[in-house]
Amino acid sequence: MKKHSFLVAALAALLALQPARAAEAPRLVERDGRHALMVDGAPFLMLGAQVHNSSNYPAALKKVWPAVKAMQANTVEVPVAWEQVEPVEGKFDFSFVDILVAEARQNQVRLVLLWFATWKNTSPQYVPAWVKFNNQRFPRMVGPDGKTSYCLSPLGDETLKADKRAFVALMTHLKKIDQDRHTVIMVQVENEVGTWGLVRDFGAKAQAAFEQDVPTAVLARKKAPVPGAASGNWRAVYGDYADEYFHAWAMARYIGEIAKAGRAAYDLPLFVNNALRDQVAPIKPWNSDFAAGGPNYDVIDIYKAAAPDIDIVAPDIYNPDARQFAATLNNFQRRDNALFVPEISNAAPYARYLYGILGRGAIGVAPFGVEDSDYSNYPLGAKLTDARMLAPFAPIYAAFGNVQRQWARWALEGRTHGAVEGEDHGDQSIAMKGWKANISFGQWQFGEKEWPSNAKEAPPQAGQLLGGVAIAQIADDEFVIIGQHARVRIEPTALQGKLGSMIASAEEGRFDATGRWVMERRWNGDQVDWGLNLTARPVILKVKMGRY
Ligand code: DGJ
Repeated sequence: MKKHSFLVAALAALLALQPARAAEAPRLVERDGRHALMVDGAPFLMLGAQVHNSSNYPAALKKVWPAVKAMQANTVEVPVAWEQVEPVEGKFDFSFVDILVAEARQNQVRLVLLWFATWKNTSPQYVPAWVKFNNQRFPRMVGPDGKTSYCLSPLGDETLKADKRAFVALMTHLKKIDQDRHTVIMVQVENEVGTWGLVRDFGAKAQAAFEQDVPTAVLARKKAPVPGAASGNWRAVYGDYADEYFHAWAMARYIGEIAKAGRAAYDLPLFVNNALRDQVAPIKPWNSDFAAGGPNYDVIDIYKAAAPDIDIVAPDIYNPDARQFAATLNNFQRRDNALFVPEISNAAPYARYLYGILGRGAIGVAPFGVEDSDYSNYPLGAKLTDARMLAPFAPIYAAFGNVQRQWARWALEGRTHGAVEGEDHGDQSIAMKGWKANISFGQWQFGEKEWPSNAKEAPPQAGQLLGGVAIAQIADDEFVIIGQHARVRIEPTALQGKLGSMIASAEEGRFDATGRWVMERRWNGDQVDWGLNLTARPVILKVKMGRY
C-alpha cells in the first residue's frame, strides 16, 4: 500500500472508531413504525453476544474477549448482579463494572448490562443474602392455599425500595464513568420475570390490590380477550384472564418504578426480556404453561401502561421451530415496541435466524453463552462449548459487520427484509417495492432441482436448516443481499410497460470504513444463470435490476 493511501485508510478507520458526536447519548427512535438504536448520533446495528450467567467477574472476562473477537460481535451483554454490587446493605461496590467497562473499551465493543436483581428467570437467586433470607421484610408470594412461593412478591414495598436504590446507584455510577463515552448503550431491568406455578400473589396486600379498579392507563391500552365490564376491578374487566393480567401489572409497575428512578439518574434505553409462551396457539388463560406475569406478547400493552420507562419488551428465542420463530417476530415487532432479540440460542440451527431478525429490521440480536466457560446449556443451546460453537455465527456477523451502520439506517427506513429456511425447506418470496425476491433452499448452484441429473443427488446442505437471506432495497431497482445456503431470484412485480427484466449488475464486495462500496468482482454467466446462489460463506452482493 502506498504511504498516502495507507494514511487515508488509517484516518478512515480512526474516524469510524471516533464518532463525530461522541457525547450524544444512546436513544431509540421510531419512524413510521420502524426503529433504530441511535449510538453516537447514528443508527447502530447491535451484533451482540451474551455471556454465561456466572461470567460477571473479572476472572471470567478473560474467556469472554477472545470469544467476542472470534465472533466479530460489536456489543457484549453482561450481567451485573445485585448480590455482587451490594453484598452489605447500603455499601456499594462497582469494581466489576469499572473493570468491565475498561476492558470493553480496550476490546472496542459496546456493552449492554443486565440487571439481575429481584427476579432472574423469576427466582431471587441474585439478590443479596440480606434480602434472600429475610422474608418478613422482603416477602415472597403466597398461593391461594396460603403456601409461600419461591418468588418474591411484586407487592413488597421494601423489596422495591431496596432494588430501586441499588439500580439507581448502578446508573449513577455508570453516568460518572461512562457518560462521555457511552460504552454502555442499553440496560436490561431484571431478567425473564414472572412466576412459575402460581398465577399471582394472593397475600393480603395483593388481594386488596386485586379488588381495586383496574388503573385507567391499563384500561386504555389492554382490551379483554373476552369482553367484560368496561371498568371495575380486575375480575370484572378481564374475567378468566384477571389473575395473570393483575400479576403482569404488578410486576410491570415494580419494574417501571425501578426504570423511572434509574433513568432519572442516567437516561439510557431500558428493556425487559421474556421467556416466551407459545407464540402460535390461540391465547388462553394461564394454565401453568408459562411464567405468569412475565412480559409475554399478549400483555405488552400492560407493560407499556405500567412501565412507560421501559422502551422495549424483548423476546428470548430458544424454540427451534420456524413457525414459532416467525410468530415471535410478528408478535413483538410493533410500532410502540422495537424488535430486539437480547438472547437467542447458540445452537447451529439458530444461526440462520439472524437473517430473519436483522432482515426484519431489529435493532440487534445476541446469541447466548458465547465464551468457553466449560459449560453448555444444551438442549437449549449448543453441545459444544469451545470456539467451534461460534463457527455458524461468526461469518454472518462478519458480513453484517461490514455494513452495520448502513443496515441499521436502511432498517429505520423500512428497506430491509429477511427469510429463513423452514422445516419444510419450501420456497419463499419477499415482496418489495416493484420487485419480489424468490428464495429457495437445498439447490445445487447450477440448474434446477428437477433436472434428472440434479435430482439424482442432493447437495450437502439440502435438508439441513442452514439457509437464510437478508435483503435491503437500497434504491428502486437496487438491492444489497446477504445470505447463505439459498438461491435468490429477483423478478419484477410490474413490468411498467416493458417486456422483461434482467440483472444489470451483480457485484460481490464490501463497504469501506467511510461507507463506500468496494466492488471485488462481478457475478455473471454461470454465477447468475440459475439465480444468485449463496453458499456456506456469507457474502455481500449489490444487485441492480433493469427492465427491457
Ligand atoms: C434464559 C435466561 O434469560 C438466561 O439467563 C439463561 O438462563 C438461559 N435462559 C438458559 O441458559
